[in-house]
Amino acid sequence: MQQVTNYTNEMVALQAITDEHFFNNFKRDRRFIEILEHVSYQQGIQYINYIQVLTSERLLWSKFMENDNYGNPNKSDFYDHLKYIADLSSYNFSPTTLRYVCFGLQIFNYIESMNIKELSIIEVGCGYGGQCKILFDICSQFGIKINKYTLIDLENVSKLQRKYLDKFNLQNIVTLPYNDCLDKLDGKYDLFISNYALGEFTTDVQTFYIDNVLNRCDKYFITWNTFPINSKLSNYKSVEEFPQTGHKEFPNVILTN
Ligand SMILES: C[S@@+](CC[C@H](N)C(=O)[O-])C[C@H]1O[C@@H](n2cnc3c(N)ncnc32)[C@H](O)[C@@H]1O
Repeated sequence: MQQVTNYTNEMVALQAITDEHFFNNFKRDRRFIEILEHVSYQQGIQYINYIQVLTSERLLWSKFMENDNYGNPNKSDFYDHLKYIADLSSYNFSPTTLRYVCFGLQIFNYIESMNIKELSIIEVGCGYGGQCKILFDICSQFGIKINKYTLIDLENVSKLQRKYLDKFNLQNIVTLPYNDCLDKLDGKYDLFISNYALGEFTTDVQTFYIDNVLNRCDKYFITWNTFPINSKLSNYKSVEEFPQTGHKEFPNVILTN
């Protein structure tokens, strides 16, 4: 695949993997906030409300909170909204972590519908790896074993994911740079995930991933946030993202097969 130039990769991620002080604060970097850490306090509340629709189980919120231990994210106090469902000494969360919990539960519910107790996952376009960390927490709480979780991203972002995810005691994580991923992939995987990513790539890059990565996965869960949807995807179920964070006329949709 052709070389992709991307300032997150060339600047923020590169700095975060080479400079310890920068890594300790990368979630505060303006350029990083623009693409990833931009979930608002109000959206955080909407995610908490929707989490209660998605599950009535008591979740391990202190595990989710670990996601805010690195990179120094901006946090807000969600005591008024979380006090009924979590027993914590602090209720300060990055709203982005709440988004990962909400998506983690939607993905977990999808995995449950697959009727399997263990699985392999590929995620494409994974930011710093927060969704991976939170999905591990949820699956582990509910007895689903992730045998392999492969993250594919641009070269330096991929290294940042490795550095970030190494902070947690997680097994079976493989981080692959996109330009060198095909040789290292297994033949088959159970689940393909791509949130706010695949839809943002050029059509060529989308086609590359659909033909070579998505097509080796039984199931997919994609949050598609652009228009139109790539015509290579067909026979999917589409539901509007909730809470909706896209445009009124072209709402973000979650595609599953
Ligand atoms: C908007 S972010 C979404 C991140 C994450 N999925 C989330 O929900 O927070 C888009 C991601 O796609 C990655 N990306 C950009 N071009 C890519 C490519 N050609 N292959 C794989 N990932 C790419 C970016 O580095 C970034 O991690």
